Amino acid sequence: MRFAGIDVGTTSVKGLVIDETGTVVAEAEASYPLSTPRPGWAEQDPEDWWRATQQVLAELRGAGGAPIDGIGLTGQMHGLVVLGADDEPLRPAILWNDGRSQPQCDAVEARVGVERLVALSGNRALAGFTAPKLVWLAENEPETFEKIRHVLLPKDYVRFRLTGERVTDVADASGTLLLDVGARAWSPELLEVFGADAAWLPRVVESPEVSGYTQDGVPVAAGAGDQAAGALGMGVVDEQGPASIVLGTSGVVFAARDQYAPDPEGRLHAFCHAVPGAWHVMGVELSAAGALRWLRDATGGAEFGTLTAEAARWEPGVEGLRFAPYLSGERTPHADANVRAAFLGLDLRHDRGALTRAVLEGVAQGLADGWDLIDPKPTIGRFSGGGARSALWTDIVAATLDVPLERTASEAGAAFGAALLGGVAAGAFATVQDAVAACVHPTARTEPDPDLAAAYAQQRASFRALYPALKAADGQA
Ligand code: XUL
Repeated sequence: MRFAGIDVGTTSVKGLVIDETGTVVAEAEASYPLSTPRPGWAEQDPEDWWRATQQVLAELRGAGGAPIDGIGLTGQMHGLVVLGADDEPLRPAILWNDGRSQPQCDAVEARVGVERLVALSGNRALAGFTAPKLVWLAENEPETFEKIRHVLLPKDYVRFRLTGERVTDVADASGTLLLDVGARAWSPELLEVFGADAAWLPRVVESPEVSGYTQDGVPVAAGAGDQAAGALGMGVVDEQGPASIVLGTSGVVFAARDQYAPDPEGRLHAFCHAVPGAWHVMGVELSAAGALRWLRDATGGAEFGTLTAEAARWEPGVEGLRFAPYLSGERTPHADANVRAAFLGLDLRHDRGALTRAVLEGVAQGLADGWDLIDPKPTIGRFSGGGARSALWTDIVAATLDVPLERTASEAGAAFGAALLGGVAAGAFATVQDAVAACVHPTARTEPDPDLAAAYAQQRASFRALYPALKAADGQA
């Protein structure tokens, strides 16, 4: 049997087909633009997602040979899609990386209190999340707000076009701030807090459930947000197993939980997992491999391999040079959209390799800020994302987090996890755990180097001193 995973991402739809052992037999991708009508805003046309999905599915159907028996959907989380009475989008979708609703978040936290918000939703009000964007719409585009009949997340809009069903899954719904994450159901209290109408919301189901069928009768699993699907694809299903650590544009530490246990201060996100009856906690570092890309572009565009080779010539700690990776603000643990990045301790001796090593180390320390909040901690991390391709960065992250890091055979990310959910929906696997056991295969493993781990543990305090210093300096420039 064959299963397709479709990832409605921020830059493109990525699709793949796997067989029952997890071997990827076909891949396709179709991209679309991102519009930034004002600084800090990010929008996309939902029609672009649908067009790209159709193109990807057509290519996958043509390429794989055998027919597709199940489809799983995943995608960028938190985006707001509003439909009117005619089921047409009322405006462009407002995306996860759009910060316009920060004032609405501040107002909600002041009115309701962080403690109560975390008690209701497991999370703080973050500008990227869905519900604060609804409040922004009510205040800034009341004529559009009046016309809202349906609210959907990005991949769920694609599902609606693909199957005609208005459905979401508990994992993606967790990022709306409208879900009672503990009860895995929409929360009447949160709907009231954010001025949303229960009638607008899709049916919410567990990730491997069949949400509907394509026109030609293929079952479509509910799926999951890209983080939960990506972690599933790395074999992260329960508290006893590995964590997922991602060094993509942003950095993520992700651990499955057998019980719902939100951080009372909401520093880690607490979401439902794509595994029925399981939850997960997650820390998000907004600039991870994205910080290295920024450095590369700012210093003349050398190959990543050249930069990391130069970085490897410097000793750990780079003779006191430190980097705070807040190029686009930070989520975990600071929940601060306004803080910005810095190098501290520059010396005449420091060259491009030194700057690079400081970025690799600063990003690893920022990941550790999230990792240190996870309790109990998994004893192994599954490591993925563009940054995981660097042996030096892998050594630095393993040592900073002081945990062995494993790679897996498929590095296909969220689409791979979605395909596993498609396999369960197709009936090929009885459970998500069975799908993972059959399809996820660990390969290389990197142990933390004890000397390096000791050096980075010692560096931690001086890294942690950066954020308060940057806050204190903010506004004085
Ligand atoms: C998760 C998050 C991102 C988006 C974009 O909280 O904001 O992973 O889903 O991919």
